[in-house]
Order: sequence, then C-alpha cells, then structure tokens
Amino acid sequence: MCGIVGYIGSRDATEFLLEGLQRLEYRGYDSAGIAVMTGEQDVLVRKTTGRIDCLVKSIAESPLPGSIGIGHTRWATHGPPTEANAHPHLGRGGVVAIVHNGVIENYQVLKEQLESEGFVFSSATDSEVIAQLVAANLEKLSRTPIQNGEDPHQRLLEAVQAALSELRGTYGLVFLFREHPDLLIAARQGSPLVVGVGVGEHFVASDASPLVGYTDKIVYLTDHQIALVTADSLRVANRDLGRVKHNVENLLLHANEVSLGGYSHYMLKEIFEQPESLKNAMRGRICEEDATAVFGGLNLTPQQLRSVNRIILTACGTSWHAALLGEYLLEEFARIPVEVEYASELRYRNPPVEHDTLVFAISQSGETADTLGALREMKRKGHRTLAICNVVGSSIAQEADGGVYLHAGPEIGVASTKAFTSQCLVLSLLALYFGRMRHLSYDAGQRLVETFHSLPSLIRQALQTDDEVRRLARKYGSANNFLYLGRQFNFPAALEGALKLKEISYIHAEGYPAAEMKHGPIALVDERTPSVFIVPKGFVYDKVMSNLQEVKARGGPVIAIVENGDKRVAELADDIIRVPSADDWAQPLINIVPLQLLAYHIALLRGCDVDKPRNLAKSVTVE
Ligand code: G6P
Repeated sequence: MCGIVGYIGSRDATEFLLEGLQRLEYRGYDSAGIAVMTGEQDVLVRKTTGRIDCLVKSIAESPLPGSIGIGHTRWATHGPPTEANAHPHLGRGGVVAIVHNGVIENYQVLKEQLESEGFVFSSATDSEVIAQLVAANLEKLSRTPIQNGEDPHQRLLEAVQAALSELRGTYGLVFLFREHPDLLIAARQGSPLVVGVGVGEHFVASDASPLVGYTDKIVYLTDHQIALVTADSLRVANRDLGRVKHNVENLLLHANEVSLGGYSHYMLKEIFEQPESLKNAMRGRICEEDATAVFGGLNLTPQQLRSVNRIILTACGTSWHAALLGEYLLEEFARIPVEVEYASELRYRNPPVEHDTLVFAISQSGETADTLGALREMKRKGHRTLAICNVVGSSIAQEADGGVYLHAGPEIGVASTKAFTSQCLVLSLLALYFGRMRHLSYDAGQRLVETFHSLPSLIRQALQTDDEVRRLARKYGSANNFLYLGRQFNFPAALEGALKLKEISYIHAEGYPAAEMKHGPIALVDERTPSVFIVPKGFVYDKVMSNLQEVKARGGPVIAIVENGDKRVAELADDIIRVPSADDWAQPLINIVPLQLLAYHIALLRGCDVDKPRNLAKSVTVE
C-alpha cells in the first residue's frame, strides 16, 4: 500500500528513485511522484497520475537533475488518484517534502488546527498534514537563534519528532529539507522501511527489492525509529531521539529474483517457480530418521509445543485460504482443534481463547495491517504467537514470538501464487511436526515425508497443463460468472481458484464446498455459467460426482480437474484438465496450479493487467 524510496549520494537520484518505484509498484499504482534537490537548494517535484511509466516518460522528456531525492507510488486511501493528491507533499514555503506510506487517523483534527493557523492545503490527503506540521515546527524553531556548537541536524530531528508525536496512525516516511541538501530523515511506525547502505551513498525504501543491484547491505528499521541519513552516515534514534545501535545485515536477494527473467508477467513466472519455491520451503525441514519435520525458529520448547491444546490460524486473502487448508491438515494429522479467523474479524471480535492456544499469523508480505493487528491483540492477551511469512524482516515476522519463513523468493505479481503453495506446504510440515509429537505413527510420518519429496516434480507435471488450460481460457473466457467447487481438502483450493479469477480478470466467481452448492449457488447455474469442479480420487469422489451431475442436469457447462487415468468424469464433464495424483491431503497443491493458469490466461485474453489488477495492492497496510 504505497511504496516509498529515497536516495542520497553522488549518482543521479532519479535513476534509483524510478527503478525503485517500479520494483515497488506492486504496492500501489494509481499515481506516482518524486522530489529532487537541485544544486541551488531548490526542491523540484514531478507527479503524474497512472502508472510509474507515465512518470518515467515525463522525466525522460524533462529531467530532474540532482543526487538527493525521494519518491512515492500511491494506492489511494484519502482523496482520489489525482496529481494534487500524489506524493511528494510539501510543507508551507516548500521547506520540506515528504513521502508517506500508511494512514493518519487524526489528520482531520490536525488539518483544521493547521488551517486555523493559516496553513493552506493543496491536497485531500491525510499525508499532507505531516508536511505542514513539520513546516510549522521548523518555523517555530527558527525563531530561536542557533547556539554556538549546536548540532545543525538536531533541529530537524526535533521538528520531525514533534510532528510524529501528534500523529495517530501508521507511517513509513522520508523527509527532504530544502535548506539541508546533505540529509534525509526517515521514520517508521507500523509501515515497513529499510535503509540500504552503500559506499558514499544511502538508499531508503519500503522493502528490500529496490536495493538489489545497488547494495547488499541493509538495515531494517523498527517501529518508532527515526533515521538521519547522509551520504556517508546513518544515525538511528528512538522516539525520544536517543541514539540506538542498528544492525547492518546482508541482503540475500538477487537481481534475477526481482526481474521477469524472460516471462511476460511476474504472475506467470511465479506460477512456474513453484517446483523450486516448494523445494526451498522444505529445505532442511525434514528429518528422515524420525519421519518428522524440523523448524529452527519456533522459539518454543518441546514441552511448550506439546502443551498446545488449540491453534488459531489468522490471515487475510489468499493466506486465509492457505490457513483453511492448514486447519484440515492439522486436525487430520495432529488432532489439535484449529480455528481459522479472518484477521480483520479476530482483532475486534474478542473471542474466548484458552490458555494453551497457539496463534499463527500467516502473511506473504508480513505487513498486512489486519493480520498485524490481530497478532498484536493476541500477544496483548498473553498468547504465544508464531508467524508464517515470506518477507524476511517484515513487521509480522519481527513481532511474533517465533516463526517459519517461506523462502519463496520475492512475489511481485499482485495475485499470490507461489506464496500460497509454500504456505500450504509449511502448514503441512507443521501438521506432520505436531502429529509426530502426538498420535502420528512413524510409518504414517514416513508416508507423509515421501509425499513431501514427490511434490516438486508433481507440480512440474501439473504445469504441463498450460496449453490445455489456454485452450479452455479461449472457450470460457467470455463468461461473466464462474463457480468453483471442491470438497474437503479441495474446498480451500476452490476458494483460491475463484479468488484468482476475480482478482485479475474481474469476472465474478464463487468458491463453494461442492455439496453446499445446492443450498444456494445452484440457482446461478445456467448454460452461460461454467462450473469448475475439482474431482480428485479419494473418499468423497462419488459425492462430488453427484454434485457434478446436479450441475449438468441444469445445463451448466463443467470443467473438471481430475487425476490422470480418471475416465468417469470425462464422460460427464464438458472439459477436463488432467493432473498427477498424490495423497489426498497434497492434491490441492497440485490442483491449484491449473486454476492459477486458468485465471492468468483468461485475464490475458480479456486484456487485463495481470500483474497489477485494478483497485488491488499486494500489501494492504491499512485497515
Ligand atoms: C492483499 C493481496 C492479496 C493477499 C492479501 C494478504 O489483499 O491483494 O493477494 O492475499 O493482501 O496478504 P499477505 O501479504 O498478508 O499474505
């Protein structure tokens, strides 16, 4: 939800700012802007509506030279996506320019107060109050003459700190000061921010991806920190401006992980990366000898883990679908009661939660505001919390008591694909782990381990459905409604298949338990509404076949995902997609692959922007 960047050093700032914004574009893409300090202590601002490409074009036509600057790509919350509402925003007199990611909840009160003092606002955003507050503080401080020996940067820090202390809400911020062409100030509270450390230069960004190719040294700022960044130095302070020690870590991201690598879209690249991302999620986490899983970062003793009597899985969007499969798996193999909660509901619902409950927050980005909020609420109530995240160093990963990283590599397409299968895989490993601690026999554990090992190659085979799926996309891509139906382990896959289609092709799609369909959605069935049935072999096979017949009897076209060798479904369905067989619990990880491809090809045929669907953002850092 909004991406921000900053640069200070000796290279052309716009080069890094624009490339960085392109890498952060998944966070929002309705308008963009940069502010660059020119040699004459002047701050030049350029903003455009629409994608970053529009900004790139504008700057190519009329460059903004300078070696210190800030940039922003917006996902609108307050005020429509106009040029006036695009960032950077300036404080009165242009003394300060800011870029902001987050939401200021009390902006209206602050705005009215500033307006009563004569400040004039030029946007409808909540962010502009921050620029005006800092400008007001600078004006106040400038009335006191600078003392001999006074640190010239201290005033700026004080002006920023005083402004921050008035804000209620979340922010990742970078400030550029007209009178101080030698520094940037960055601050974070609830929105992610990192600093890249170079030689004679520093970079600021919402996440690590813009730094790739520029530096491999990174500092993850934490909440309430304020950083004063010059070309040669980085000083990190706490909210009272007391200096805090910061760790410079190695950035483990490579250029090929953030580039398209020959694919036409990130989503397609990420779908095809799944055999590899699953291997990475498993690496070092299977103990053959004990037929169980091992995790390094749970930070809980075996006694604490054994005493877990209930698990809550909380998440949003696709991660919630993975959580639902996690519930089925944990209950099946570990026999622990599990609840799956939408994070946005859990944080305000106040359900009774027993003492020995373990809470998992599941989030690809590790920044989703609702999931973070639910995690904090559970922590506040004294429960142990663990994170399942992909982005290393993200807020959720930092705030949980421990956790498991997906190691899926950066997921850039807004519609989540490889993170979903990795989340499902990590949850399956957890089911094995908790199961082996309790009731699951060595033999049963071994069988699960064998299935884990076979998964990457089965997914590779499932990817070979691509041509057939493209053909079906042409046949069904003009429909306005779809049903996705599956039972048991494949119900979450049906939900996820429907979500993919909705997200990127804007076609209405409903995921439903196949049998529940007759209690409502069956009314939608007609010859123009395709139903995608997931019909793997297994003990609900015959039941799903009956549901399929119910749809056929009402003239609804049926596309069925079936296991190789299945003959019965082909006799009934209009079209079938054959995938390899696995144990029933692992089948959804395979079945989701053609469903991801189906959404991709339909969206492409309909001329939709696959990687940046309208109205969505990859990481939703507002409630
Ligand atoms: C947004 C994205 C979804 C994603 C959800 C949760 O809505 O558009 O694709 O599933 O957030 O994201 P998370 O990073 O917490 O998994």
